[in-house]
Amino acid sequence: MSTIDKIKDLKKQRDAVILAHYYVDDEVQKIADFVGDSFYLSKIAAAAEAKTILFCGVSFMGESAKILSPQKTVIMPDLGADCPMAHMADPAKIAQMRREYPDLAVVCYINSTAALKACSDVCVTSSNALKIIKALPNRDIYFIPDENLGRYVASKVPQKHFIFNDGFCHVHKEITAQDVRQAKKAHSKAELLVHPECTPDVTGIADYIGSTSGIIDYATESKAEEFIVCTELGVLYELKRKNPRKRFYPAKKQQCCPDMKRISLEKVAEALEQMSNVVEMEEEIRLLAKKPLERMLELGQ
Ligand code: 13P
Ligand code: SF4
Repeated sequence: MSTIDKIKDLKKQRDAVILAHYYVDDEVQKIADFVGDSFYLSKIAAAAEAKTILFCGVSFMGESAKILSPQKTVIMPDLGADCPMAHMADPAKIAQMRREYPDLAVVCYINSTAALKACSDVCVTSSNALKIIKALPNRDIYFIPDENLGRYVASKVPQKHFIFNDGFCHVHKEITAQDVRQAKKAHSKAELLVHPECTPDVTGIADYIGSTSGIIDYATESKAEEFIVCTELGVLYELKRKNPRKRFYPAKKQQCCPDMKRISLEKVAEALEQMSNVVEMEEEIRLLAKKPLERMLELGQ
């Protein structure tokens, strides 16, 4: 039996739904029931009816699914697939900021551990950060952990006062303005599509800035035929699937997240077979982390 057939069988046996982020390998995206950006997947996880959620992504994604759907068994193909940025903020610093700014809103990018979410007021993703921050009554915003997304949103909401944290995504940070200029030289008619985790000198020259779904939707609707894509390479699968006649070029070859690439079909089959790699967390942390995630779902509607 092929691995794909095995997964189909096991999915029925385990009453499982498979969620996958656009950054995992094409072959994993192909067997998923739902593929999307972080916001979309968190909504699907919150509403899932199956008994088991198998999350093909990095650990903060599985954790968010568990926080929102505690009655489900959430499993992951590889518990070692972890987003380094998710750890790049400090609860002690958050507490210090709260003392300094009494009216502070701690806004936490969903790419964060459950422990960081537990110290925050609201979560955001790259597709809803602007809308949610505009809707907050607070003027002082402490944006964790990603400095680049924070600075991008701050540039669109000048009426608020932002405090930044120095977290970053190494995949997006390594795409330089020099890489982009070279790609533009090679493809002079291409539109430049940029994820807001990129640095300001790259977002500053973009034709479009948005989440992975935003980038896919923009390219699908655009009249342009060529695009330079500044985000993780996995997104090219859906871009090409939806737009077989258009051409997509990465700004550089190394736009690859090693953690997302740990997810394989074999690990999907194994996790389902063994019901292994179960996401677990302390109930106290889960309840604290649930509040900012639910506020995001409410404000992001
Ligand atoms: P989005 O799909 O929400 O744009 O997230 C990007 C990301 O870095 C996920 O790890
Ligand atoms: Fe984290 Fe960046 Fe990988 Fe996304 S692409 S999981 S932000 S390291």
